Amino acid sequence: MGRLTSSPPPISIVFLAFLVLANGGNALGGSSTERSGARRLFIFGDSTVDVGNNNYIDSIPSHRARHPPYGLNGFFGGPTGRFSDGRLVVDFIADYAGLPFIPPFLQPSAKLDNGANFASGGATILPETGKGWGLALGTQLNLFKKMQRSLAREFGDAKTKEQLSEAVYFISIGSNDYIVDYISDLELQKMYPPEEYIGMVIGNLTQAIQELYETGARKFSFLSLGPLGCAPAVRVLGPNGTHGRCFEEVSELAVAHNNMLSASLVGLEYLLEGFKYVNPNAYEWIGDRIYHPLKYGFIDGENACCGRGPYGGIYSCGDTKEGMKEYELCGSPEEHVWWDSYHLSEKVNEQLAKKLWKNTALKGFFTKDSVITDDPTNLQDEL
Ligand SMILES: *[C@@H]1O[C@H](CO)[C@@H](O)[C@H](O)[C@H]1NC(C)=O
Ligand SMILES: *[C@@H]1O[C@H](CO)[C@@H](O)[C@H](O)[C@H]1NC(C)=O
Repeated sequence: MGRLTSSPPPISIVFLAFLVLANGGNALGGSSTERSGARRLFIFGDSTVDVGNNNYIDSIPSHRARHPPYGLNGFFGGPTGRFSDGRLVVDFIADYAGLPFIPPFLQPSAKLDNGANFASGGATILPETGKGWGLALGTQLNLFKKMQRSLAREFGDAKTKEQLSEAVYFISIGSNDYIVDYISDLELQKMYPPEEYIGMVIGNLTQAIQELYETGARKFSFLSLGPLGCAPAVRVLGPNGTHGRCFEEVSELAVAHNNMLSASLVGLEYLLEGFKYVNPNAYEWIGDRIYHPLKYGFIDGENACCGRGPYGGIYSCGDTKEGMKEYELCGSPEEHVWWDSYHLSEKVNEQLAKKLWKNTALKGFFTKDSVITDDPTNLQDEL
């Protein structure tokens, strides 16, 4: 009940905005050439980037993707836990960066030399609600810190911090806070009007970013939310009007979330020395493919390849531990923007990764001669 009266997140946003103004727009620190590009990639998020962590969490058998027809295109030889017919955005990014695929952190005996993936299907930014889905962002962060402490024991604090500061941190999360929790929970909506709820979500995300920064993280890559109201599972919940309309009110939550995250990141860039990020407007990239599928080599931007009911929007794709479920499967996943009721097809993931790589500074994070802003005093320590 106490949650009703408190609203710290808007305050932290206001605080960041104040710092931006107080700084008068001056960049902090000097410029220096980085000694080497990143050889490590750490990933946090939900099913958009979970490469199999949920396979190892006993409490959530119903939210896994390790059964056919997931992994249908055979790239990995079958289902892996990825919520797609094939690879995810982070798989392509690792490949472009010349790294091996980054393994799920929870996989026993996973080789973590090039980073780790902490993402979990169903994850939210706000702490777990007890609905029994994925590991919330805070829980993922705790696993990361556990890994950091064991690295520090092995290599020492300084070396560990140096290695963690060279790495790239990829974060893709937030959809479930809205399409799983908020829109289906009238109680929650009564408690928090949309702006306040979004402020709370962004407040928690901002705090997580700051905690990562404190452990040494400097280079961040975000994948903004797409048009959530167009996911087949959400489209079927929308008003039954003309065919081809998304559930706009839900997409608007994503737009507001993306805007508030952008503002928060601008604040963090001024507040935290050496903090670098890329945060392209993936909402537009995904929306373009949904509304103009033909332009991007797709036939269908509306219906899930795998699912049931209108738009394939009834989330049902293959068998789970609960038993075989009824579902329909399209002939050519690469013709569909949507693989299942919630998730994009590999072809979309590849196009998004390509755009990220070509149109943002992400590539520079992994490249030897990339120039980043750095604290000159830290540089002297290194020399
Ligand atoms: C994080 O979310 C909780 C609700 O789960 C909220 O009470 C808290 O104020 C949020 N924290 C920030 C920093 O916004
Ligand atoms: C829209 O129509 C479908 C069946 O075509 C129905 O299952 C659904 O409940 C309807 N939704 C609304 C919001 O009326």
